Amino acid sequence: MSTPIRVTVEAPINIAFIKYWGKREGGEELILPTNDSFSITLSTKPFRSKTSVVLCGDLAEDELWLNGVKSNIQETPRIQSVLKCIRANCPAERAPLKAYIVSENNFPTAAGMASSASGYCALSAALVKAFDATVDVSMLARLGSGSACRSAYGGFVIWHKGEKADGTDCLATQFVDEKYWPEVQVMCAVLKGEKKDVSSTSGMQQSLKTSPMMPERIATVVPQRMAAVKEAIQKRDFNAFAEIAMKDSDDLQEVCRTTEPRIQYATEDSYAMIRLIRAFNAKKGHNVMAYTFDAGANCFMFTLRKDLPEVVAMLRAHFPTTWEQMFFHDAALLDECRKFALPAEYVGLIDYPKKPFEMLLQSPVGQGVVYLDDSESLIPHQA
Ligand code: DP6
Repeated sequence: MSTPIRVTVEAPINIAFIKYWGKREGGEELILPTNDSFSITLSTKPFRSKTSVVLCGDLAEDELWLNGVKSNIQETPRIQSVLKCIRANCPAERAPLKAYIVSENNFPTAAGMASSASGYCALSAALVKAFDATVDVSMLARLGSGSACRSAYGGFVIWHKGEKADGTDCLATQFVDEKYWPEVQVMCAVLKGEKKDVSSTSGMQQSLKTSPMMPERIATVVPQRMAAVKEAIQKRDFNAFAEIAMKDSDDLQEVCRTTEPRIQYATEDSYAMIRLIRAFNAKKGHNVMAYTFDAGANCFMFTLRKDLPEVVAMLRAHFPTTWEQMFFHDAALLDECRKFALPAEYVGLIDYPKKPFEMLLQSPVGQGVVYLDDSESLIPHQA
């Protein structure tokens, strides 16, 4: 018997600052967006998706185990389309082999964070390597979930909407790598509250059909913003970068508000965060930080490393979160935060009841997919 093919990878989440919201005509199955989008890839530490694949000749069908539970992949069209694409683009002798896939996310359940981006990206990267396929990892991940394609690369990543009906020019590329602007830090304030009731998939469908803002967003707003934010990143101009990120986040919320029926992802806490960050930036006279929201209540933030201890102290002065609820990639930075004494002028910036975040996460700009040694596989070797 030949040695089984074994692959293990980790993939990070990414957070968009120019949002993907809408699939173009006929692009529902292949996941072809109406506009380009732009994101920062987070580090795989502390949170990531990990996937191991073993290709076997003696398995009856493909199997996927997700966080210890067997998935019904026959009835999951997006997984089927990923598997179909892999087999159409791999050497003939590998195509008949069945894939035994084990996947795991280590996001705390309370984080309520979408794992589909990192999950589909890890799955795709593992399958491409195992099947020795010629398909681009980002393109394959896109078939699972649009935003997943951007997790394939590190740094600042563009997902190009492409023009072709078959999606062959609809993929992600790296704009600059994680070393280009390492001062940029990402945080996520996980806010207590209800789970979102409208998935992004159906929310964006509704918005495209009904929000009067969508045509202009697609035709002019996003193309102009893409150009402006590229320039800000190239110049490492955080003030301009932050302004654009907040504007695009505000626009997404406005698109949701003008969708029929109205979609509401933000909660009172989300709005309080927006007011707080605006007040802080106003007091500083420039954008020290930026907020951005996806299809959920949690507040993602960008800031520079030098400002992060003050930002955390300022956040804690309004949302008094314990240090145990802080999940930092960088322990030394957490230590600096603990020691930081916040000037009194940054206390009481908004009138809002003090309550803790569920948790606060910190990550630098990360490197994208990481292939791991087989000793880290989630699938034991057969005796
Ligand atoms: C608000 O990638 O989850 O996070 O392609 O239908 O799976 P599908 O949607 P998904 O949408 C993410 C939307 C967003 C913005 C973004 O990440 O760009």
